[in-house]
Amino acid sequence: MEFKNKTAIITGASKGIGKAIATALAKEGVHLGLISRSAADLEELQNSLRSQYSVHVHIASADVSNRVEAESAVQNLYKELGSIDILINNAGIAKFATLLDMDPSEWERIIQVNLMGTYYISRAALPYMLNQNSGNIINVASTAGERGFATGSAYCASKFALLGLTESLLQEVRKSNIRVVALTPSTVNTELAANAGLKIGDEDRMMQPEDVAELALATLRLPERVFVKTAGIWTTNPQ
Ligand SMILES: NC(=O)c1ccc[n+]([C@@H]2O[C@H](COP(=O)([O-])OP(=O)(O)OC[C@H]3O[C@@H](n4cnc5c(N)ncnc54)[C@H](OP(=O)(O)O)[C@@H]3O)[C@@H](O)[C@H]2O)c1
Repeated sequence: MEFKNKTAIITGASKGIGKAIATALAKEGVHLGLISRSAADLEELQNSLRSQYSVHVHIASADVSNRVEAESAVQNLYKELGSIDILINNAGIAKFATLLDMDPSEWERIIQVNLMGTYYISRAALPYMLNQNSGNIINVASTAGERGFATGSAYCASKFALLGLTESLLQEVRKSNIRVVALTPSTVNTELAANAGLKIGDEDRMMQPEDVAELALATLRLPERVFVKTAGIWTTNPQ
């Protein structure tokens, strides 16, 4: 697809992978609608992207795990942008503990943000794409959606479910020219990974958010008659 003057909504846009994808799309001339909870972080990114790349950048502070907030964020951003060509479902949280050690409220919160948040945002954006008879949805899953591990029951369950949602949705909407893609990165150097205690190596040996953004744009750049169903990206030689 051609990027110039297209529109994109990105969740979890204020940090890490979401911020890197927002920046990469702005560089290509895509007008943006950015969602995360912290309004201050969103405003800072909005100012920097507007001044650097002269694209329209609209923001909506919302918790994607809250259906009312998610729906109103998408509706308000659509009103500003006038279309939704690209939706990046990226907002996510991670915490690792054994099934018994993790408090049920934390276990539920991971499912609520990573899975239900993606469902609420997609459900709000999809009617606009169906009406346009075109669109692109990228769901940021994880290698944790392909392989379970001890202490990962909540996070893996959320990401396995996200892959099931992605594959089912793509079968529903491909006839409307909507491409639905899942990305499955291994550990990326972000606050999420550092706070969850994942091992972060030196920059030249460790996947960076900009690398995932490059993969996201590469999948979008393909001719619209094709799509990548699932794309994994790993650090080549982790420390
Ligand atoms: N880092 C990794 O190793 C890795 C690997 C594979 C997949 N992933 C996935 O990649 C995605 C992005 O992760 P990241 O590493 O870039 O994380 P990050 O640096 O912690 O950034 C997360 C972003 O999501 C937002 N967010 C969190 N909870 C939210 C909520 N309830 N509603 C709205 N926004 C919310 C945060 O902003 P606020 O806090 O202001 O809301 C922030 O903008 C996640 O889905 C994660 O599971 C990460």
